[in-house]
Amino acid sequence: MGIMSDHPTETILGNAEIILADRVIERGWIVMSDGLIAEVGEGDAPRGALDMAGDTLIPGLVELHTDHLEAHFSPRPKVQWHPLSSVIAYDAQIAASGITTVFDSLRVGQDSRKDAFNDNLESLADTIHEAQQSKLLRVEHLTHLRCEVCSPDVVDKATRFLAQRAVHLMSLMDHTPGIRQFRDIEKWLDYYRGKTTMTEAQLQKFVEERQALNRELEPLHHRKLVELARSRNVPIASHDDTTIANVEESISDGATLAEFPTTIEAAAASHAAGIKVMMGAPNVVRGGSHSGNVAASDLAREGTLDVLSSDYVPGSLLMAAFQLPADIPSITLPQAVRMITKNAAEAAKLHDRGELRAGLRADVVRVHRHDSIPVVRTVWHQGARVV
Ligand SMILES: [Fe+2]
Repeated sequence: MGIMSDHPTETILGNAEIILADRVIERGWIVMSDGLIAEVGEGDAPRGALDMAGDTLIPGLVELHTDHLEAHFSPRPKVQWHPLSSVIAYDAQIAASGITTVFDSLRVGQDSRKDAFNDNLESLADTIHEAQQSKLLRVEHLTHLRCEVCSPDVVDKATRFLAQRAVHLMSLMDHTPGIRQFRDIEKWLDYYRGKTTMTEAQLQKFVEERQALNRELEPLHHRKLVELARSRNVPIASHDDTTIANVEESISDGATLAEFPTTIEAAAASHAAGIKVMMGAPNVVRGGSHSGNVAASDLAREGTLDVLSSDYVPGSLLMAAFQLPADIPSITLPQAVRMITKNAAEAAKLHDRGELRAGLRADVVRVHRHDSIPVVRTVWHQGARVV
């Protein structure tokens, strides 16, 4: 339920370009009733329609992986903002980006990062929940629990989290230097050299320790985390798949999403197995990966890109979806929009949203195209206007 009001009985949106899952209606209308889409039509709208002035209507976006709350909770390195105030500001930015279903990323299992955000994950999760229950939020917030598989406390932490709170997606990450995202160990060293005061010798020792932890803990932790997800019917995501062996493991885990594969081969194998391949929308907008791995647009060109995630810039989702068809002629606008709506919803096993079709949730975004930049004008969540 949105912040503005309970959904009005009926709202009609007319004189709009409408992006369906498989085609575009150049001029059409949508009737929203009791929080659902009641009807979608072509041509003149029924009486009483709001005039969309030729703007584009797309389904509310589904964002599976964002840590943007962090920017609101910890806006400066040593500043912690009021938790509820942070959550409300974050939610407003998410809604204004056209996102009506957001998976807030919360990380369990320590890595090298010790900071205010990671120290307050559980209380932030509870704050989001409290805000949602009190109807203070504009969009639906779900939880994406990111599990760092090789950290010693990850199984205990994930078990405790799941015993106390709802989780809607679990990803299994392994950032051990020398594999996956950091297959090239020099990349890992570059990444850490910029962030640490460790000497070269200390860094080398740290690498060896991380690799030993991987050998010791990965097989057992991996199995336990998969069991935990399955026992609660939580969809599983793999992370940074690099080799065919990585993909085979994620197939046997029953994963429905592959986050940020680092190679063309891994993406192709996941896509062929029906696992939705997700890449960062900023990567599309900026034209490449900031970590030097495979680019999202390369996968799009290969036809193996299924889902985009805004990652660290909420507005990138919409920008990327409108940019892709311009960059890559073989991709249609409905196809690109599916990457930020229907495909993402399906990867998270949500079948009641992600498309402008009668019977689904009335999550609708009015987009004005200003030259090539899509501008969010209005957002309806379950039929209620929230932006
Ligand atoms: Fe990663």
